[in-house]
Amino acid sequence: MNKHIVMLPGDGIGQEVSKAAKQVLEAVAERYNHTFTFETHEIGGAAIDSQGTPLPEDTVAACKKSDAILLGAVGGPKWDQLPGHMRPEKGLLGIRKKMGLFANLRPIKGFKQLLHASPLKPEVVEGSDLLIVRELTGGLYFGEPSERRNNGQEVVDTLAYTRSEIERIVDQAFQSAMVRRKHLTSVDKANVLESSRMWREVVEEKKHDYPEVTVDHMLVDAAAMKLITNPASFDVIVTENMFGDILSDEASVLTGSLGMLPSASIRSDGVGLYEPVHGSAPDIAGENKANPLAAILSTAMMLRHSFQMEEEADQVETAVQEVLAAKFHTADLSLENGVKVTGSEMAAKVIEQISSN
Ligand code: NAI
Ligand code: MG
Repeated sequence: MNKHIVMLPGDGIGQEVSKAAKQVLEAVAERYNHTFTFETHEIGGAAIDSQGTPLPEDTVAACKKSDAILLGAVGGPKWDQLPGHMRPEKGLLGIRKKMGLFANLRPIKGFKQLLHASPLKPEVVEGSDLLIVRELTGGLYFGEPSERRNNGQEVVDTLAYTRSEIERIVDQAFQSAMVRRKHLTSVDKANVLESSRMWREVVEEKKHDYPEVTVDHMLVDAAAMKLITNPASFDVIVTENMFGDILSDEASVLTGSLGMLPSASIRSDGVGLYEPVHGSAPDIAGENKANPLAAILSTAMMLRHSFQMEEEADQVETAVQEVLAAKFHTADLSLENGVKVTGSEMAAKVIEQISSN
């Protein structure tokens, strides 16, 4: 198969981990006789420095013509003092919005090999395998007005959703549940927020379309607690933008490191942007310490969701597990009797597995 992939490395360790991800995709192409072509564009701080905007037009145009997008990370202290509309994050929020990518899928799996790398007790983490489906284009991050008023003495942010925005994300979550363990937890704050009450209504309506899926509703504060006391009780979680942002970072402790978590931002036709959950990690950028596995696991999501390459995706995930089973790890993880390697060595180990399996 021929596929055209746009690479958006971005800032900090985004550069390092996307290089690793690209090498993995090249290894998959070679092994399975696919032709993947790549085109690299700027986004975030790097784009601000060279083109004066976090999301240049040519980046958007290239993404619109691509089969899938792989993003590293954006942001860093260098750009922290810029005004809101000029910040690197605007590049990422903007490309998701311009591409209509409304669903953020974040699978979180407690790798057996990493049970002891988590700060939680191994018996709590064991068996956890969940998917957070986060709404991406609405809610507090996009609501208008969002401003200071009254000489700076008052501030307002707006949490807005249309019914159809809620319906499409809830549909996506039910579809994800159908190919997993068929259990959906909808997370909201319906005791306080009107938006959450509409959210609950939509879930109650939609569940009749998916009779095989069991559904429960949970308040976000209770869900935050249960995620670290009984994570194995979840299958698919669906929630609005900000709740999903917070819960998915919380859930990342299950895996022992942010450096292990992939994500996909997709729309209904399968087009997607794939990225590690972590940021640009300015504290370790340029030191070849960054764990590339989150970015590499994001390529597996790309192969599966955007290209329907199930076997290839499994191959990448298996390769990662084998490398961990052989006790190789980057500095962010501690494995008993492990062998500490650099980011690029880690990528090379995974590629070696893909090519030899
Ligand atoms: P971060 O995720 O960049 O780093 C948090 C901590 O985790 C740091 O100690 C970092 O060294 C470590 N870490 C993260 N990824 C790692 C990896 N692959 N391997 C090893 N260690 C890793 O979050 P932080 O520090 O809050 O933000 C730094 C910058 O990144 C900020 O400018 C922020 O706005 C941006 N950011 C961008 C995101 C994106 O592009 N999607 C997401 C989150 C933050
Ligand atoms: Mg976040």
